[in-house]
Amino acid sequence: MSFEIWENARLATLQAGQDANYGLIDDGALVIEGEYLAWVGPRTDMPAQYRHGAAIHDARNALITPGLVDCHTHLVYGGHRANEFELRLNGASYEDIARAGGGIKSTVEATRLATEAQLYKSAKKRLNHLLNEGVTTLEIKSGYGLSLADEAKCLRVARQLAKDNLVQIQNTFLGAHAVPPEFQDKSDAYIDAVVAMIEPLKAEGLIDAVDAFCDRIGFTYAQTEKVFKEAQRLNLPVKLHAEQLTNSRGASLASQYGALSCDHLEWLNEEGAAAMARAGTVAVLLPGAFYFIRETKLPPIELLRQHKVPMAISTDSNPGSSPCTSLLLMLNMACTFMRLTPQEALAGVTRIAAQALGLKDRGVLSANQCADFVLWDVSHPAELAYAFGSNPCLSTVWGGQIRATTSNTHIF
Ligand code: NIG
Ligand code: FE
Repeated sequence: MSFEIWENARLATLQAGQDANYGLIDDGALVIEGEYLAWVGPRTDMPAQYRHGAAIHDARNALITPGLVDCHTHLVYGGHRANEFELRLNGASYEDIARAGGGIKSTVEATRLATEAQLYKSAKKRLNHLLNEGVTTLEIKSGYGLSLADEAKCLRVARQLAKDNLVQIQNTFLGAHAVPPEFQDKSDAYIDAVVAMIEPLKAEGLIDAVDAFCDRIGFTYAQTEKVFKEAQRLNLPVKLHAEQLTNSRGASLASQYGALSCDHLEWLNEEGAAAMARAGTVAVLLPGAFYFIRETKLPPIELLRQHKVPMAISTDSNPGSSPCTSLLLMLNMACTFMRLTPQEALAGVTRIAAQALGLKDRGVLSANQCADFVLWDVSHPAELAYAFGSNPCLSTVWGGQIRATTSNTHIF
């Protein structure tokens, strides 16, 4: 097989241990062989063998980063909740609305009524926005169906989106997201039903991981553990919506099950952070939800740093707490609200986000990684976190294939 070379670029490789300068290579080159990178480094060091018969692409001084990874989304759902946004601006809180039967439950109703084709159509619109910003891998959670048939319907839509687009999608089963109306006041019975859904969904090839919402408007520690036990029995990795509204000791629990990630974490304490560090669990920060529900308590970033818990950033794209499809905006908000450095933030949407999905073959630019990368109309990676509301993504390569070349430009 012949090689393809990309040169005339500045590379931000994001290789581990080189975060202090983003792994920058000023005059860099990438060599692609099939779906993978065969070589990455300074252009002048490139072994001559690669040039032989290679197709050459001129990156025209673009900055090249690894493809972006959005490791926490709820992209497939029916309807939207702009009406609840209005209610909140008239005095109701996110929790008030959830307790009054709105919130997740109203999206469940709309999702159950929607056909697979309708769900596909709306999710595709949201996916397009992510792709246009250089996302090459994302996670999609279920959790708005809450019955075997409706969860399967949403997960099939996610699989179909992956088939039809040049993108990798990881499916996560989030049956334990809320109690559906037919189980009202019977949350234990619902958890038994969730546990029973995992095996058939896995058998249909629809899930790659299992998640739950452990909180005072979600499920208890004991209920969450039941779900994790079944996931473990079936060799499925787990993750958790943990300590978003309260500290429910979810991070400690998830760590005991070797969770890939704990997400949200505004109320995380030292015990939870230490447990995550021991288990190698990633902290997924969701500045969109933090912003949109006007949370005032910040996730304990300094504690996470002290315990060396890796931090990822994601959109949490969903109709209730984060109707957002811009991972670049999250990069900026992680810096402004949560005080991450731009280099922590960029690692958080590339290398660490891949780690949060258990994927070892992407998220950095180096040999043997997937040939997933983005060309940006910026000269330094800090600009990606600095500017907000614009999109400097010029072109994206996924699995060695050029996915799109856009007319986007930077603002400077
Ligand atoms: O990640 N925390 C729970 N789930 C979602 C919100 C879902 C919704 O409000 O529809 C989240 O924030
Ligand atoms: Fe979420």
